Amino acid sequence: MSMAIIKRLLVGAFLVCTAVVAAAGERMTPGIATAHPLATAAGMEILDQGGNAFDAAVAVSAVLAVVEPYSSGLGGGGFWLLHRASDGFQTMVDGREKAPLAATADMYLDENGEVIPGLSIDGALAAGIPGEPAALVHIAKHYGKLPLKATLAPAIHLAETGFPADDIYLKMAGFREQAIKASAAASEIFLPGGKMPRLGALITQPDLAQTLRLIAEKGRAGFYEGETARKLIAAVTQAGGIWQDKDLREYAIVERQPVRGTYRGTRITTAALPSSGGIVLVEILNQLEAYDLSAMNEAGQLHHIVEAMRRAYRDRAEYLGDSDFVEVPQTMLLDKRYAAGLRQSIHPDKATPSAMLAPTVRETSQGRHTTHFSIIDSEGNRVAATLSINYPFGSGFVAAGTGVLLNDEMDDFAARPGTPNVYGLVSARANAIEPGKRMLSSMTPTFLENKQRIGIIGTPGGSRIITMVLLATLAFDQDASAAEIVAMPRFHHQYLPDAIQLEPGSIDATTKKELEAMGHKLQQMENSYGNMQVVIFDRSSQKTDAASDPRGIGKAVVGAEK
Ligand code: DON
Repeated sequence: MSMAIIKRLLVGAFLVCTAVVAAAGERMTPGIATAHPLATAAGMEILDQGGNAFDAAVAVSAVLAVVEPYSSGLGGGGFWLLHRASDGFQTMVDGREKAPLAATADMYLDENGEVIPGLSIDGALAAGIPGEPAALVHIAKHYGKLPLKATLAPAIHLAETGFPADDIYLKMAGFREQAIKASAAASEIFLPGGKMPRLGALITQPDLAQTLRLIAEKGRAGFYEGETARKLIAAVTQAGGIWQDKDLREYAIVERQPVRGTYRGTRITTAALPSSGGIVLVEILNQLEAYDLSAMNEAGQLHHIVEAMRRAYRDRAEYLGDSDFVEVPQTMLLDKRYAAGLRQSIHPDKATPSAMLAPTVRETSQGRHTTHFSIIDSEGNRVAATLSINYPFGSGFVAAGTGVLLNDEMDDFAARPGTPNVYGLVSARANAIEPGKRMLSSMTPTFLENKQRIGIIGTPGGSRIITMVLLATLAFDQDASAAEIVAMPRFHHQYLPDAIQLEPGSIDATTKKELEAMGHKLQQMENSYGNMQVVIFDRSSQKTDAASDPRGIGKAVVGAEK
């Protein structure tokens, strides 16, 4: 990216608070950036108690499950990308939800084969089998130093004593009021007395505290067996869902090899399937690598970036799904020679209509739900984790007596190949519903490394997650700071719909005109999107830099570990 676009994108659209502290001696200064100040504080507290980044990740995930109920939680799932400093081992803990064993490919269709609106979004039938509890137990057991009793303590405390309803909570609860009201147990917790809480009113979750306590005592059995499992199955069944004991008993996380790539001097370590994020990110970067973006004007840069996005998202729609179920040509998609082939079809100054790309599926709204956090500890252990219950407040359904708000991640499957999901994404047979299959995700927790710096990044934002991480990678390559990266205005193209989505303030009128003249359709968005959390360690200055997206209420802290 040339300085032209970097300068434009970095113009202070938002003011960000960051902290930069020099590391003492050999050890790194720990840094944590999360979407909520209480989660960042809990992570720091765990580091202070002698925990490592993995312990802090467990604590942060659990606190987010309590204080950001619209984003992630025990009733959802996610991907935790880990780097262990002692031996350089890197892995992705896949705690993605799975389709219930009784799920069928046409479960959201009516008798005419049309998608029934809302069925994969609201209520118990929309929920996949949660993976977050199993993932937290696994991370604590295999990578952490502290017992779950210690790492879950901050979350238990906050569930019991309450957290203050903030602006985003009120906005999201307003948006999902109907779905929440359809579930008596959800209503009781999130709309106490049947009303929207006041700003600052305490939201307490005693049942969730008890479920967390059971997990702290019994590990995965505290959620997937016994009392909690019984309550989950009973509530889901009563509400028309299809979960069975076996679904919970057999849920297992999978450790997967992260997807790897390179862009100029930067090594990328990122999400593997069942997230599309890593493959799509690397495919875009591979196409862009051969261009001298810095020699282009802003419209030229945007044009080339968008054309690369378009082609990679076409492949997402066509090929990607859970690789435990379908053959995915991953080696081909990640090959720089394949990217060179794609690049051949990019015209230097004309948009390629998406309809002109090789045929794929024929037919063809998001923002601050789902959550990401980034952590580095004093030993250099790292975690990038993106966690979700999908739509704000997930399915809106709480299983009575558990405090667990269920996800509506089933909507990430192709309810019908070619019909767009809630993020406007289309996918093909590779992402059709099958019993026990994981739905395709866009979550893209990522490590970036070059000679100078190590970056830990990620964000929520549905289908736009991948392009946000892409823009962050291009800026990282240009030495942007954590604060600059999270504040950059954003743009996005996802093949279908065939339009460049522009965040307010992302480009000026002249560039818009130039892009339109090339044949691009522009969609000016009313609202900003994303909630990026970045931690960067500079190898030569030995400084840790962290920043939380100014669009959210998150907090980044860099501090001395005791
Ligand atoms: O896994 C996915 O790709 C989606 N369920 C993520 C949803 C999301 O990021 C919502 N955020 N704004």
